[in-house]
Amino acid sequence: MENFHQPVLLDQVIHYLAPKSNQNFVDCTLGGGGYSKAILNKLGEKGKILAFDLDNLAIANAKLKLKPAIENNQLYLVHENFKNLSAIVKKYFTADTKFDGIVFDLGLSSAQLEDQARGFSFKLAGAPLAMNFGEPIIETAENIINSWDIKYLSKIFKDYGEDKFAYKIALAIADERKINRIVTTGQLVKIITNAIPKRFQDKRIHPATRIFQALRLAVNQELENLGDVLPQAVSLLKPGGKLAIISYHSLEDRIVKQYFKKAAKDCLCPPAMPICQCDHRAEIKILTRKVLRPTEEEVLKNPRSRSAKLRVAKKI
Ligand SMILES: C[S@@+](CC[C@H](N)C(=O)[O-])C[C@H]1O[C@@H](n2cnc3c(N)ncnc32)[C@H](O)[C@@H]1O
Repeated sequence: MENFHQPVLLDQVIHYLAPKSNQNFVDCTLGGGGYSKAILNKLGEKGKILAFDLDNLAIANAKLKLKPAIENNQLYLVHENFKNLSAIVKKYFTADTKFDGIVFDLGLSSAQLEDQARGFSFKLAGAPLAMNFGEPIIETAENIINSWDIKYLSKIFKDYGEDKFAYKIALAIADERKINRIVTTGQLVKIITNAIPKRFQDKRIHPATRIFQALRLAVNQELENLGDVLPQAVSLLKPGGKLAIISYHSLEDRIVKQYFKKAAKDCLCPPAMPICQCDHRAEIKILTRKVLRPTEEEVLKNPRSRSAKLRVAKKI
């Protein structure tokens, strides 16, 4: 796992977070530890990082890779969902602690994608339909595929996967599961491929891509977790502290964009209201007026970075 994951937009993230000696950070998505390591390098001897991951393998790997920082009480690794950010912070820091920066690099790591046992990749045919980031396992792709009503299957395929054939694929799954339980990635890929007429199959993108992505988002409740954590993250920043978020899916980016827009406004009253009644005050200033994307050079070196979008805000 160690060298598997190439951190995406690392220079830009470090540029915006600008970590300095003795500051405190939260890395909400540890993964291969790329961001935590780069931040640690700038923190001197007293700065600290609290790093989250749901994946026990990511935590175990970081325990080896970043051992000196753990021994020096600079890195706290927590096997937790970042949606519990505020509660977990209280366990490790004093109640009034505020941070200099908080970073999210959403989605899954290359190590998870390439792990045959996890079922994230439609390219690994014999894998179980799990798709969990880690424990606790609340849902599995196998359960969704074999038990959800056609209506709900089709809704996630359409909403999360933006797949034009969402209903047709849901119908094909429902037909197949009457005969056989669908338990492997290979079975699912075959059903999807057969459900989409050949002439509509896009040559550039595998027909299963969107459905696998939709299932992953649903299994891990990724959009819900993101929506829950954003206000917690903003409230945990010091004035001047930065919040950097990298997303890989248009719906994730929309949640971040809309949240930033709202949190950066002084008044949220409808425009027709002559006097402000809401008393809402801007909490952040948006630093990335336009979303930041990886350079062509980065995409060439690391194709998985191609859909990355970085947004950064500063606490007022
Ligand atoms: C894209 S990787 C992060 C890679 C990391 N920035 C690096 O440079 O190595 C995302 C990681 O976040 C974890 N993750 C996703 N959602 C999570 C959540 N709600 N709580 C905790 N960890 C989560 C995944 O398990 C995965 O290891």
